[in-house]
Amino acid sequence: MTEATAGLVVIGGSHAGHQIAIAARNAGYEKPVTILSDEDTAPYQRPPLSKAYLLGKVDAEALLFRPVAYYEGQGIDLRLGAPAISIDRPGKTVTTAAGEAIPYEKLALATGARVREIPIPGADLPGVHYIRTLADIDGVAAELDRVETVLVVGGGFIGLEAAAALRVLGKKVLVVEALDRLMARGVGQTISDYFADYHRAQGVDLRLSTGVQALTGGERLSGARLGDGSEVQAELAIIGIGVLPNEELASAAGLDCDNGVLVDQFGTTSDPDIFAAGDCTRFVHPFTGEPVRLESVQNASDQARTVGAAIAGKPSAYDAAPWFWSDQFDLKLQMVGLTQGHDREVLIGSQAENAFSVFYFGGETWLGADSVNRAGDHMAARRLYQQRYPLTEAELRENADNLKGLVKALRKG
Ligand code: APR
Repeated sequence: MTEATAGLVVIGGSHAGHQIAIAARNAGYEKPVTILSDEDTAPYQRPPLSKAYLLGKVDAEALLFRPVAYYEGQGIDLRLGAPAISIDRPGKTVTTAAGEAIPYEKLALATGARVREIPIPGADLPGVHYIRTLADIDGVAAELDRVETVLVVGGGFIGLEAAAALRVLGKKVLVVEALDRLMARGVGQTISDYFADYHRAQGVDLRLSTGVQALTGGERLSGARLGDGSEVQAELAIIGIGVLPNEELASAAGLDCDNGVLVDQFGTTSDPDIFAAGDCTRFVHPFTGEPVRLESVQNASDQARTVGAAIAGKPSAYDAAPWFWSDQFDLKLQMVGLTQGHDREVLIGSQAENAFSVFYFGGETWLGADSVNRAGDHMAARRLYQQRYPLTEAELRENADNLKGLVKALRKG
């Protein structure tokens, strides 16, 4: 038996994983490419899960990045339901759960992140759900008919998107957030307050600075005991309290990890033949000079392209502006930059009209902006940020109605 030619093996078949394989091919990589995915579905978009898919507006087919035939056409061996369980670096092979050892020339880790589980009594009762995969949402949808009240634990992006969708579907929704404001990890006070008001105006029962002591019920979830000891009724719970990087495979193989697989600007790990991209990585961000682990589609896609190009022998350093988005009710929240640590917020537009942006400054440095229903501001801010434009507060105020003008001036200059 002849040994298979060692090529690129990608572990993980989500946003970053499928994109690494495609990017490597696009950049001219000619050896075999294999994607090992532990999911049973071909690579699909996750963001709509807690939005349009939960609302029933799109079906699973519409979430696929590409039809399965596309991968075949590109000579990419997409293996579904095939988790990798170990990496042998000296032997340069990856072993799958089925016991197959696949040789690699280059290995790429796109293992993503998993939900953080809530360590309280009742957490494993039927009716308690997390949202990360298509199967997770199908599990929620299958139960919705007999549910009157939903308890959402966590007022981050996932919790709030789910809360909005379930409210639109006519459920009573109670959101419990441990901190004193919403989405604290991602946005500033103004946006947090605005979203709290908006959710409440839509009928969401929002409790801030509160945890959950226990999820309660007999055979199924029927309620919860909140941090203040009060009892609430709920037939379904959605837990959205953050994610953890899937770095165990990498660390077991001796790769440097520290709250994520550590990579450089080419997505290279501490082993020059092993790369990583997406939610599982931590790296020094080119725009801040600080180590960061980004949980975003933007980073997964851009870092995957960086890795694919490097694997094909065409390295180009990662230099992508961070951006994010979240849809809740009819609000489109778009964020650019890494704005934690800001000491000033400057608002343009109108909160009363539900269309405004908040620009963040730390000292004199512009750090980024969050826009609500102001896509023009967001696109302009992204361009300015990508160019490392030193926007000042005075300039922002002067150009508040025409940020595009600043971008145009930048292009000419
Ligand atoms: N009880 C209540 N709230 C909690 C608890 C708890 N025990 N533990 C954490 N929280 C809150 C946090 O304070 C935070 O506001 O849960 C929220 C989690 O928010 P995120 O960290 O944004 O995580 P999540 O919303 O789960 O999203 C996970 O998936 O789609 C992506 O962009 C999303 O990257 C994010 C990831």
